Amino acid sequence: MCGIVGAVSTRNIVPVLVQGLQRLEYRGYDSCGVAVHTNGLQRARSTSRVAELAEQVAATHLEGATGIAHTRWATHGAPVVHNAHPHFSHGPGADAMARPGRIALVHNGIIENHDELRATLKAKGYEFLSQTDTEVISHLIDSLYDGDLFDAVKAAVGHLHGAYAIAVFCKDEPQRLIGARAGSPLILGVGKDGQEHFLASDAMALAGVTDQIVYLDEGDVVDLQLGKYWLADKNHKPVTPAQRPVKTVLAHSGAAELGPYRHYMQKEIFEQPRAIGDTLEGVEGIVPDLFDGSVTAAGVFKQIDSVLILACGTSYYSGCTAKYWLESIAGIPTQVEVASEYRYRDSVPNPHTLVVTITQSGETADTLAALRHAQSLGMQHTLTICNVATSAMVRECKLAYITRAGIEIGVASTKAFTAQLAGLFLLTLTLAQAKGRLSPTQEEAHLKAMRHLPAALQSVLALEPQVIAWAEDFAKMENALFLGRGLHYPIALEGALKLKEISYIHAEAYPAGELKHGPLALVTSAMPVVTVAPNDALLEKLKSNMHEVRARGGVLYVLADADSHIASEEGVNVIRMPEHYGALSPLLHVVPLQLLAYHTACARGTDVDKPRNLAKSVTVE
Ligand code: M6R
Repeated sequence: MCGIVGAVSTRNIVPVLVQGLQRLEYRGYDSCGVAVHTNGLQRARSTSRVAELAEQVAATHLEGATGIAHTRWATHGAPVVHNAHPHFSHGPGADAMARPGRIALVHNGIIENHDELRATLKAKGYEFLSQTDTEVISHLIDSLYDGDLFDAVKAAVGHLHGAYAIAVFCKDEPQRLIGARAGSPLILGVGKDGQEHFLASDAMALAGVTDQIVYLDEGDVVDLQLGKYWLADKNHKPVTPAQRPVKTVLAHSGAAELGPYRHYMQKEIFEQPRAIGDTLEGVEGIVPDLFDGSVTAAGVFKQIDSVLILACGTSYYSGCTAKYWLESIAGIPTQVEVASEYRYRDSVPNPHTLVVTITQSGETADTLAALRHAQSLGMQHTLTICNVATSAMVRECKLAYITRAGIEIGVASTKAFTAQLAGLFLLTLTLAQAKGRLSPTQEEAHLKAMRHLPAALQSVLALEPQVIAWAEDFAKMENALFLGRGLHYPIALEGALKLKEISYIHAEAYPAGELKHGPLALVTSAMPVVTVAPNDALLEKLKSNMHEVRARGGVLYVLADADSHIASEEGVNVIRMPEHYGALSPLLHVVPLQLLAYHTACARGTDVDKPRNLAKSVTVE
């Protein structure tokens, strides 16, 4: 989604800004731009890739020591150059555009009262050149500017409703950069010798530039100058260094390198044995201390009598899988809610509930809002399963389990999903133990199975050539159906999401028992039906559902365990999974589905890592 980089320095900062944008590209964007102070405000903007912006910048010799840059993911207004950030305000009046720009601004988030503010500013004589909500902020700051940009921004944010992270500078104060955030992430980077300072929406943007990071709190406004910076909180009170300490954050740019792979998604699928191994590293026995936080996990786990899982997209499906584990192994009533629904509906709060948020990025706006909603209803036992230790979600939850999948660049989540499942399984065992439902023998058996996962994943990845043969069929299709039962129904959902997300094939998933209640009407020879068929208690039921498909001419693509006695024949294509994996089987069965989506998308020639219309971190509602 949108990304911000900004700097105040004594050197030409444009290469750092452009490189920062390149590091943020993985989040998804449809236009980009950079503005610097160089004898007034100058900018370059592009609706192409950051590489094209870099060419423009080189061709026009754009240079300056104070500047801001942005990748935009369109919300208000099409992805065209005049909507790309940075936006300038030239002040009010009929002759405004003849004057040099005074305020330059970039913005992540959505301003909800932009219509109202636009009307007020138009009445004051401001002219709007874009359809964005962002341009409203630049004019608003200009209208409040009286020689001190920090004061103008503090006054302006008081008028904004919605979510924002902004970086702004002014023609009249060349060595000053102001940032502010509420609802969207923004960090401050302290450069070498404390002389230059940076702003970014993600520490990754500053990899190799500085690892000295200050995380801004909700409502903070920051004033960056050469050799010094100030922070004010949401009440405009000065913030002390102890309140927002400088942290050393290792955001390695090397992790973002593609290596021998064709796409990041492919690399990340093949990294899963390592990701799961790292996530489980050091797990000797199940101890509540695995869940770090500001409170004692053991105490919390004893008090709770139910679990509420909040998440979006793929993370929601890992939560749906965990529900089966939590109810069958730990015996704890579990509810899983799509975060964007939960935050707006009337629900019945239970203060003894453990609220579990699941998020790869830790910055998903809907999941953060759902967490805050649960807290506002009096549910204070909060835990996150998250892949980014420094994220807002980790800061806002009392307990955290950090998965160690490593940075995930491909928009389609793969290794983060299996790492979440590993974390959720550990949570299940920990809760089962706290509730006295796990004998030492059972605990040891589960842990042994978990430790074997990296090797088991490796043997599933070896099935890739067979999946490629399936992908050749799928690439010619426009629809697909995915079926699963029980624990593997969420895996069918995840398989369908992966396929539609990157290959643009319409795919739906159903619990196989639902087939005859409607979707069977869709089944013809043009509708491939993927079936997740491990040898579990529901296999015989699932086989009947498969007969229902074959009887209507549907072509089956089945992931079957070795001992499930399902063989390939006319209209039935079987890939045999290497071993039966019991409760942890979803972690293995999802891998061929990830590979199927990947190879189908490659065969159709889509932009696998940056699928159309999607972004990696969904930081707006
Ligand atoms: O960062 P999060 O895990 O909170 O993201 C949630 C969803 O946006 C994400 O899983 C999305 O569905 C993926 N693109 C799916 O591959």
